Amino acid sequence: MRTDKIKILAISGSTRKSSSNINLIKAIALLASESFSISIFEGLTELPHFNPDLDYGQVTEDENVAAFRKQLRDADAVLICTPEYAVGVPGTLKNAIDWTVSTMEFSKKPVALITASTAGTRAHQSLLGTLLIIESKISSATQLLISAIQTKLNSDLQITDEETLDKVNQLIRSLTEIVNGELPESGLLPAPLLN
Ligand SMILES: Cc1cc2nc3c(=O)[nH]c(=O)nc-3n(C[C@H](O)[C@H](O)[C@H](O)COP(=O)(O)O)c2cc1C
Repeated sequence: MRTDKIKILAISGSTRKSSSNINLIKAIALLASESFSISIFEGLTELPHFNPDLDYGQVTEDENVAAFRKQLRDADAVLICTPEYAVGVPGTLKNAIDWTVSTMEFSKKPVALITASTAGTRAHQSLLGTLLIIESKISSATQLLISAIQTKLNSDLQITDEETLDKVNQLIRSLTEIVNGELPESGLLPAPLLN
């Protein structure tokens, strides 16, 4: 059992100034400050549009892509909080993830996924599939869909809905277990089949 704080890199699929997803990450950082240190990845909009012709793997690369990949590698775990846009994953977030496919920063990385949106089901399923195919470690307890997020979080960064607060606390505990190797591999969600 580790004694230092677990380093989490948090990524918000919304880059909006008063984003509820960014506020949710900040609320989680306050809840979990004893066991986690959470830093928010700020460079999502600086990443170039993904193009395999520009993806040379680890050696030659855009400095923003390199910084993103390094922050992922340095993190013990990743927390993604995202809204749904037009029944899908926000393009900026998917673009960022596509930059990690060849270099595999998500492979074996403990990940918690929260889709916090008006509805969110389709983006959530789609992103889960993506995260599993790139070999992230996710269990059913480290993924959470929060619908009607606007009604469950206040401007003081408090999760006001009790059930949501319980589920978020459970998610944090489960992410800790995965980082500490306390969750058997059989508890992880299996990768989907490509066909
Ligand atoms: C372009 C656009 C498309 C949206 N499409 C959906 C959608 O398909 N499903 C949904 O649940 N919410 C949708 N929403 C609403 C967002 O989920 C909601 O505004 C959410 O709070 C945005 O997250 P944020 O506060 O972190 O920016 C959409 C919002 C925008 C701006």
